[in-house]
This record gives sequence, C-alpha cells and structure tokens, in this order.
Amino acid sequence: MSKDTVTITDNRTGKTYELPITNDTINAIDLRQIKVNPDDFGMLSYDPAFKNTASTESTITYIDGDKGILRYRGYPIEQLAEDSNYLEVAYLILNGELPTETAYAEWEYEILHHTFVHENIKRFMQHFRYDAHPMGMFIATVAAMSTFYPECRNIADPHNREIQIMRLIAKVPTVAAFSYRHIRGLPYVYPDNDLSYAGNFLNMLDKMTEVNYKPNPVLERALDVLFILHADHEQNCGTAAMRVIGSSQADPYTAMAGAAAALFGPLHGGANEKVLRMLLEIGDVKNVPAFMEGVKNRERLLMGFGHRVYKNYDPRAKIIKRIADEVFEVKGRNPLLDVALELERIALEDDFFVERNLYPNVDFYSGIIYQAMGFPISMFPVLFAIPRTVGWLAQWQEMLADPAQKIARPRQVYLGYDERDFVPMANR
Ligand code: SDX
Repeated sequence: MSKDTVTITDNRTGKTYELPITNDTINAIDLRQIKVNPDDFGMLSYDPAFKNTASTESTITYIDGDKGILRYRGYPIEQLAEDSNYLEVAYLILNGELPTETAYAEWEYEILHHTFVHENIKRFMQHFRYDAHPMGMFIATVAAMSTFYPECRNIADPHNREIQIMRLIAKVPTVAAFSYRHIRGLPYVYPDNDLSYAGNFLNMLDKMTEVNYKPNPVLERALDVLFILHADHEQNCGTAAMRVIGSSQADPYTAMAGAAAALFGPLHGGANEKVLRMLLEIGDVKNVPAFMEGVKNRERLLMGFGHRVYKNYDPRAKIIKRIADEVFEVKGRNPLLDVALELERIALEDDFFVERNLYPNVDFYSGIIYQAMGFPISMFPVLFAIPRTVGWLAQWQEMLADPAQKIARPRQVYLGYDERDFVPMANR
C-alpha cells in the first residue's frame, strides 16, 4: 500500500528518514532531522530565487505553465476577460466568489465614491521634478498615503483592513493619472464618479476644457480588460515582496509601495516599457534578423518573452493580441506591431527560443496597445500597478489569515571566513 511519504537515505551516516508528503510537497522544516552529529543544526533546502519553493498555500490564482492556464478563484481568464469587468473581478479575487447584483452595486458604489485623494497628496506630487518617472511618483505616493491614514497600521482589525483595501483600489487610478498629468505639465484632473472605473481613469488622463469627459467606449473596454488580465498572478516577484513586507505587520500602503517597487524592475512589470523601447530601437522588420542574432549571442534579452512559470504561450498575451486589433480600429494601426509579429514569428520557429520555452508573455503586446492609446512609455509600469493592486491586497489578506505564516526570514548557506582577529591599520 503506497504511502504519502518520501524516504531519504543520508549516505554520510546510512540513516534513513521518512518524510510526509502533503499536496505533492515536503515541508522543508522536516529536513532538519537530517544530521551527521546530534548537535548539528540540521539540513536546509537551498533554492536561490525560489525556483522550486512554495512559500504559501493559496486559493486565489491558479497557473499551469505547461498548459498556459490562468484562473482567478477557479474562473478561466478567457471567460472573465470576455464576460466580466475589472471591479467584478477585483471583488472575486478579494472575496473568493463572484458578487450578487446587490453586493456588486454596493462594491462599485464604494470604489467609485472614494476616488479622491487628500489635497496634500496632490501638493506632495506637485513637488516631484517636472520629468519624474511616473512609476517613481506612484511608488512614493502610495507609501506617503500611509501617513494620511495612520489607523492603517492597525492591521489586526479586519474592518480597518477592508477600508484601506477599498481606499487603495479606488485611489490608485487617481494617483496614476496625477503622475501622468504631472509629466505632461497639465493641471491634475479630479475624478468623475459618474464614470466607470476605467472610464474615470481615462477622464483623469485626458480631460481638457470639455465640461463632461466622455470616454471612447472601445478604449474604455480595452483598458478594463487589460486591468482584468493584470489583476493577479500568484506568487510573482511583486506579490512575494508584498507578502514578505506584510509579514512584518507593516501597513498595506507601505507593503504595497514595496510590491510596486519590485514590479518596476525591467525583468518584471517594467518589461512592458523595455519591450516598447526594444521595438523602437529595432524600428523596422528588416532589422529583426540582426537583432535576433544579438539575442542568440546573449548580447541582450528579447524583452516580453519568457516566463518563470509559463513554458507555453502566456494566455494573457493571446487575449491582449485580440484587444490590439480593437484598439487599432479606433486609434490606427501601430506600425511597431509588424516588428513585434516578426519577432514572434522567428521566436516560435528558432531552436534557441523553442528549446528555452520562450513565448510572448503578458508584457509583449500590452505596450503596443498602450502606445497606440497614447500613453507615454514611462506610464506602462504604472498601468500594470493599477490593476495588480487588488492582487497584492488579496494575497496580503490571505497571508495575514494563514496560521502557518510568520515573519519571513530565509536562512543562508554561509561560505565566508571562519573567525579571524582584527588587524590594526598599521599592519595591513
Ligand atoms: C512578468 O512571475 C510572474 O508571474 C510575472 C508576471 C506577472 O503577471 O506578475 O507574469 C509579469 O514579469 C512577465 C515577465 C516580463 N519580463 C520580461 O519579459 C523580461 C524578459 N524575460 C526574461 O528576463 C525571463 O524570461 C524571465 C525573467 C521572465 C524569466 O526568467 P527565468 O525563469 O529566471 O528564466 P531564466 O533566466 O533561467 O532563462 C532560462 C534560459 C536562459 O538561457 P540559458 O542560460 O539556460 O541558456 O532562457 C534564456 C536565459 O538566458 N532567456 C532568455 C529570455 N528569457 C530567458 N533569452 C533571451 N530573451 C529572454 N527574454
């Protein structure tokens, strides 16, 4: 009768150890039994960048990298992108179930009526350099928001956590739009609570002298679907940062500023900005073969390709490609799309990329759409951070509710000097 255990023989001592298997994992702490001498610390697992380490149990997002599957609370991303909207998906990710009509109406009203930020936050943002990177403004302002809601540090109070979560989801589009207006040298536009979540964001970005801004419905829906696609992605780098910072019981604004800082990295959410700069550098389809040779010679990365988990097509990239056509209908075709399609065509055929399972990820086509919608490239990571706010906060909530979680504190393998005596300067 097979047992849910694994037996390890330590050939240094001939001892065997039987470790229980739960959810196809062993608990790393069980390795500590494995010792040569009784007073040894015991064995550790070594996993730089956590390539094969589960840091938590979760019920929020499921990814199957080999099959290109992404589900939020069990619902396939393709169905949510087709039939839902971002605020409904945000409710699902936070609460675990799709809302009833009444619950959705209440949720939507709460979010759409907490979009204003304190006037001092606006003045705080107005003191950034005229050409500050909007993601730097976003990160700093989210952290600063913790000083406007000092009660946010009472993270043990569930109702208090819910209020801060609702504030963050409601206000990040306002902060993002203010950062955009800042770098454009335009007056900041206040929220219009009669518009949808995505529609109001477009209003705060683009409104000029018209009395009532009317968002283009195609762009409004395209943005809303892009928000759905970026809402959560299980234990990615930014979410891991949110969980690690949150594990010290920091407040959600401070933890989220850290998560957004991780997202800003060019290997993570900053990749969409790098993709556009890469496409602009290539400039024309005829330059693609030479560029790809450079990638194969390890001179640079093919930004927007590859993924730690997806070893198949990122399902989000497929949906984004469809949205691109709808946006180009309205805004005109982005000529960089031809360069992107040629890069993809070669990458899907060439052994260098096929052998490494390098497929387009969520960042490859999103930048082309954002540029076609008129966003400056520097805004792309901010457009990722807005929808990912709900994912970070849902994962933060799950971490706080998980009795197995403690303050995150990894171990290390020390390979440095053994003890040695201090050497006075004169003798060095
Ligand atoms: C996101 O985790 C998430 O879920 C993130 C995200 C989310 O929703 O939160 O999905 C969002 O961050 C998407 C990823 C965006 N980043 C990029 O597009 C940057 C370019 N991609 C690479 O930097 C890379 O693919 C990563 C960082 C995304 C994944 O890197 P891994 O898993 O650590 O893979 P690796 O570096 O070990 O690469 C394996 C091999 C290596 O070659 P060998 O040394 O084994 O011969 O593939 C090569 C790498 O050199 N490789 C690439 C490449 N990505 C990997 N070579 C060229 N171009 C690339 N893009």
